[in-house]
Amino acid sequence: MKKWFAVIGNPISHSLSPTMHETWLKQLDINASYIPIHVEQNQLEQAVESLKLLGCSGWNVTIPFKEAIIPFLDDVDESAKGIGAVNTVVKTRNNKYVGYNTDGLGFIESLGPILPEYNILLIGAGGAARGIAHAFKRKGYTQLAIANRTLEKAMGLVDELKTGQALTLEEAENMLNKFDIIVQTTSLGMKNNDASLPIQLNRLKENAIVADIVYNPLVTPFLEEAKKYNVRTVNGLGMLVHQGALAFSYWNGVKPDSEEIIQQLIEQLGGNYVNR
Ligand code: ATR
Repeated sequence: MKKWFAVIGNPISHSLSPTMHETWLKQLDINASYIPIHVEQNQLEQAVESLKLLGCSGWNVTIPFKEAIIPFLDDVDESAKGIGAVNTVVKTRNNKYVGYNTDGLGFIESLGPILPEYNILLIGAGGAARGIAHAFKRKGYTQLAIANRTLEKAMGLVDELKTGQALTLEEAENMLNKFDIIVQTTSLGMKNNDASLPIQLNRLKENAIVADIVYNPLVTPFLEEAKKYNVRTVNGLGMLVHQGALAFSYWNGVKPDSEEIIQQLIEQLGGNYVNR
């Protein structure tokens, strides 16, 4: 029987996931479809029951349901349990629906090869930072610093991780030359948002990697600033694609190609930006 996959969210019409997954399904000659589904805020439970009833083989979950979906699933994998957020649901052989989170791991994969001894600075302490911080820890990267406008929130995340240090934005700026990887996880720089920088980069280490999880615009003001220092910059499109590739591999048992789809999505977003 033809399989089908979905992404649920609200709003959902701008999601790039359907293009990405449909392209991969075609490339790999898998007889399946992937459809976007708009779910009303107060109808998540009914939506999940419907997906199960109709035999959906697996689905992605996006804003605002990543946390709220957990009670409606049969089980939650370690990748999602620690952060209390699910972005991928997998149907098991015995028809159970299990929640995973591939966002953080996808982000790490988007960086390419990195060394275990790297010092990592996360800017922001919200849901996105939390997912990435937990994934770094699970992968064995423990030299983590979390800098946030509200220091208490960074301290809370460090407590939860049981590793790393919490910093103010000013402290992070002053000791920036200590960090090999800098990850901007706040919504600053997102299209239509405040274009100011969370921290200044004048103490940036030579050969640092500067990443932003935002992909619209492809080059955020933060990455634009980083480029002035001739360091490698990574935009949020890689995270989107790699989290999707991981989800795809959980569902279909095969890892799809990431590089080609990144170029295709850049064209869809109307840019000609190349990551490296
Ligand atoms: P998400 O789930 O996308 O991470 P969030 O949980 O609302 O969103 O977290 C937003 C993050 O962006 C927080 O770290 C927030 O800092 P505070 O904890 O101090 O609120 C950060 N942020 C938002 N606007 C900011 C701004 N203008 N300057 C600095 N940090 C900002």
